[in-house]
Amino acid sequence: LHVAVLMGGWSSERPVSLMSGEGVAKALESKGHRVTRIDMGRDVALKLAEAKPDVVFNALHGSPGEDGTVQGMMDLMGLTYTHSGLSTSVIAIDKELTKQALVPHGIPMPGGRIVPCEEIFERDPLPRPYVLKPVNEGSSVGVAIVTDQGNYGNPVSRDAKGPWQDFDRLLAEPFIRGRELTTAVIGDRALLVTELRPKSGFYDFDAKYTDGMTEHICPADIPDDITAACKDIALRAHKLLGCKGTSRSDFRWDDEQGVEGLFLLEVNTQPGMTPLSLVPEQAKACGMEYPDLVEAIIAEALA
Ligand code: DAL
Ligand code: MG
Repeated sequence: LHVAVLMGGWSSERPVSLMSGEGVAKALESKGHRVTRIDMGRDVALKLAEAKPDVVFNALHGSPGEDGTVQGMMDLMGLTYTHSGLSTSVIAIDKELTKQALVPHGIPMPGGRIVPCEEIFERDPLPRPYVLKPVNEGSSVGVAIVTDQGNYGNPVSRDAKGPWQDFDRLLAEPFIRGRELTTAVIGDRALLVTELRPKSGFYDFDAKYTDGMTEHICPADIPDDITAACKDIALRAHKLLGCKGTSRSDFRWDDEQGVEGLFLLEVNTQPGMTPLSLVPEQAKACGMEYPDLVEAIIAEALA
């Protein structure tokens, strides 16, 4: 096959996407496919039209790329591409829209509300501890956890050269104590549950992409009912949103509350494919090597 691997772009997750894309491109070459690497710029449509690939592997993260814009363009161009389509991407990139789509179906997600940026500098939008996050970023970009002891991650301050002013909409959610879990879905199968234990602080951007900063326990050492609930929720969310290829559902679990303490935080429609990423790690634990995972995602796009 001739595969165009779309990567890079100009989102805050550009460096992550370049790592995902390079991993995918090398894996495809190792399987004998012809690869065109495309670092997405404003001329991406021209580059894709020139390349005329059999299929596009979308290795973009964040906006644009994970948010439906690029998917809509490829729909118009009549290109076949991996991962989720336009409307699924628009909903899943937005943590508030995702709640509106999933909570009515009984998927447990934290409460909370959208807060105007000005308000967070004046008063706490929720009782502490709470989490503030942009509705549509990935890789923990812009996340702050505000507790009585202070705040972790980005400083919530008008004066700090923080990222707050740049975000369209901020979401405030109660902080769920306990543990960080994640489950990948490939095709119609939820794989495993991984627990992420950052060596210090929380599972932020550095903890995600610096080797050795986070312990991955795969499969997680948690009760069977919690494993089953994660897999069930991840698969249902994948189907309800209409995800394609692969998705990864991220959870917090308050381990003092049993299954009642399990909350889905979000569904990632363009989960990372870097060497430290979680979907490849779960696939491998299930006996699927990285190049086979890449081919499986492409096979679903071509089906
Ligand atoms: N946003 C990153 C790439 C992830 O979900 O893995
Ligand atoms: Mg995410």
